[in-house]
Amino acid sequence: MTEERTFVMAKPDAVQRGLIGEIVSRLEDRGLKLVGGKFMQIDDELAREHYAEHVDKPFFDGLTSFITSGPVFAMVWEGEDAIRQVRQMMGATDPAEAAPGTIRGDYALDLGRNVIHGSDHEDPGSNEREIDLFFDPDELIDYERIDEGWLY
Ligand code: TYD
Ligand code: MG
Repeated sequence: MTEERTFVMAKPDAVQRGLIGEIVSRLEDRGLKLVGGKFMQIDDELAREHYAEHVDKPFFDGLTSFITSGPVFAMVWEGEDAIRQVRQMMGATDPAEAAPGTIRGDYALDLGRNVIHGSDHEDPGSNEREIDLFFDPDELIDYERIDEGWLY
């Protein structure tokens, strides 16, 4: 069994629109386990580091100004194959391509304002890097969910 941790974030548009609870609820209902959570304001330095892979893209400046435009809810979720499971639940990056039933497919219209971030399963190690960037080790809490034995 490959228990994984993945970094997830309700972006500023999700916070402004009152969608934190909806996002948390969907991941909880799926059976994933919340092991860290932080309501925070991202500064320019953290934004640039988090999105460093996109530094040369034409949308980089818009992306960093959007992600620093208001508070976010940063989270770490744990579970079997959690990185890919969350990406599936998020839907495609471009909401026009995101299937109904996915978080982006249900809540987002705009490619920039697409509600949620999740570590990329096609970029191995990005989950660890992002978790380390946003959380101290003692902010991540290990515990058992009561349904854990029933999920797998
Ligand atoms: P990316 O890592 O490709 O997508 P994802 O969030 O699904 O991992 O891009 C990061 C964010 O950059 C994306 O969520 C929205 C924004 N973005 C744009 O604004 N324009 C673009 O053309 C792309 C590809 C992304
Ligand atoms: Mg990405």
